[in-house]
Amino acid sequence: MTFLIKSESGALIIDGKAVAAGVLEGVATEVAALGLKPGLAVVLVGEDPASQVYVKSKGRAAETCGFHSVQHTLPRETTQADLIALVQTLNADPAIHGILVQLPLPPQIDSQLVLETISPAKDVDGFHPVNAGLLAIGDRKRALVPCTPAGSLILLQTAAKELGISIAGLDAVVVGRSNIVGKPMAQLLLAESATVTIAHSRTRDLAGVIARADIVVAAVGIPEMIKGAWIKPGAIVIDVGINRVAGEGLTAQGQPKTRLVGDVEFAAAAARAAAITPVPGGVGPMTIAMLMSNTLSAARRKA
Ligand code: GUN
Repeated sequence: MTFLIKSESGALIIDGKAVAAGVLEGVATEVAALGLKPGLAVVLVGEDPASQVYVKSKGRAAETCGFHSVQHTLPRETTQADLIALVQTLNADPAIHGILVQLPLPPQIDSQLVLETISPAKDVDGFHPVNAGLLAIGDRKRALVPCTPAGSLILLQTAAKELGISIAGLDAVVVGRSNIVGKPMAQLLLAESATVTIAHSRTRDLAGVIARADIVVAAVGIPEMIKGAWIKPGAIVIDVGINRVAGEGLTAQGQPKTRLVGDVEFAAAAARAAAITPVPGGVGPMTIAMLMSNTLSAARRKA
């Protein structure tokens, strides 16, 4: 299978959909040999349309992999106590190996408290402090690693292999310091022996910091904030952003068209980079694939 497409500008476009399909195929094959059906429970509170789409895709991928897949949809008014009670029930359920509570949660609920209620062994999002701590001490064997950074690393490794370069010793800049992407991504890059900088909203001279980077991972959630002209020629660019912006014209239903863009100005960055992930079709599909991979790992440890 080919995971990389040569673009007109010469940059390799990293095909996240193809890499994710490979990961899912591997998971499905292992499930068939495991002798136990991995169980994934996804919990959605409220009716956020983006969350509904994500949760549906997660359920579909779980079924494709041969998992036992359950979804709990709770009303927006759900109390913190009720959500915690559901998580505790899932913690105790032997048919469930992975629990994911879709974020964001409504304002009456303390998200961190809910995430910390999930048993670390079933925390397939990798957000529990125990898993964050295991990643921080470099124990990849025992940690469940957050899906988006784990998938981003695989795309980066795919590109580096194709380019014939080693990640060790390279200057990597992660833009964004969230617990979900930025911080765990920095830990993963450090474990690969990259020299890691975490840039964020208070960083002075972001353009200058990025201009020195051999690897850029953009996770800020601001459409095309990272300008193509900042990218060092020959760098590898992993764009985690998925931002919906106004498009051109109207849909068949007469609604204004929208389109998805990343955190990086794609065309201008592709003109300088050695390899880059597209949006959509880059990191996005990898997040769901890594969720399946984490659920398999959690089940395997139980088996
Ligand atoms: N909302 C947006 N991304 C994520 C994710 O990776 N996990 C969960 N639980 N919620 C999300």
